[in-house]
Amino acid sequence: MSGQIDEQGRLRHFLTTEGMPRQLLERILDTAESFTGVIGKSVKKVPLLRGRTVINLFFESSTRTRTTFELAAKRLSADVLNVNVATTTTKGESLLDMLHNLEAMQADMFVVRHAESGTAAYVAEHLGGNVAVLNAGDGRHAHPTQAMLDMFTIRRHKGAFEPLRVAIVGDILHSRVARSQIHALNGLGAGEVRVIAPRTLLPREIESLGVHVYHDLEAGLRDVDVVITLRLQRERMQGAMLPSEQEYFQHYGITEERLGVARPDAVVMHPGPINRGVEIDSAVADGPRSVILEQVTNGIAVRMAVMSMVLGGRDGGEG
Ligand code: NCD
Repeated sequence: MSGQIDEQGRLRHFLTTEGMPRQLLERILDTAESFTGVIGKSVKKVPLLRGRTVINLFFESSTRTRTTFELAAKRLSADVLNVNVATTTTKGESLLDMLHNLEAMQADMFVVRHAESGTAAYVAEHLGGNVAVLNAGDGRHAHPTQAMLDMFTIRRHKGAFEPLRVAIVGDILHSRVARSQIHALNGLGAGEVRVIAPRTLLPREIESLGVHVYHDLEAGLRDVDVVITLRLQRERMQGAMLPSEQEYFQHYGITEERLGVARPDAVVMHPGPINRGVEIDSAVADGPRSVILEQVTNGIAVRMAVMSMVLGGRDGGEG
């Protein structure tokens, strides 16, 4: 797990939900819960990370994730910098040289997104112990804060994880979100985790992650409490993995009608960005079961929780 947890069981980096002890997953959710009060107030700040510097390093585009990391850091009173990596890296400097320079400016935390799987762990391994690394998405591998904000949203609506049936629908093959969700759901003791997708959009080793595989949408959605829809990640697809978007929608698109077999109180989630009429019908995305915008809001409290847990126990700053 690339040393994300120290000998005392504290979170030093947040790179993956895989193998994370249940107690720590629950502590993230509980800490996030305590921050939701802060977000609702008119003065939205607490001084926990005053004097600390957080640097956002997004080598791949993002709106939701980058913005909510920035808001989370600001609400904890940290100083936040968004480094324009596209211009910085055209000068031939290596990634590590660039990071060592930022480290020399006394940064306390790097929030890293990169198209290459393993980048966040690589950065955590190669920097001195003074900088914490948060993975904001690495290739197809992991997106742990997204998974935790999804867990937070599920817990707020459904309470305990044990009785829940959760279905993740769509492009599992290219999805770092799905992998992190599966590890988090299993770590938190979810009753049953299902994946629903055509064969071409499922990784081969998927069953070893502890999920039930469905190729038929209706069978997979039957009696579920939570439906998580995923975007078709076309930018990661090689060649023709799918006939057409219309045909995909016919077989795997989430519509009100198809949700008829799920539990009557089932909620529908999506990490965004959504493609209306491809993986989800607008009537569902904007309908009463959708908690998609709540997920975005919850992203702030969950990222505040992770940042304060990771930096709170370290020396330096005033927090
Ligand atoms: C996801 C991502 O970038 O991994 N989005 C997000 O972070 N909210 C999913 C996606 O791009 O489809």
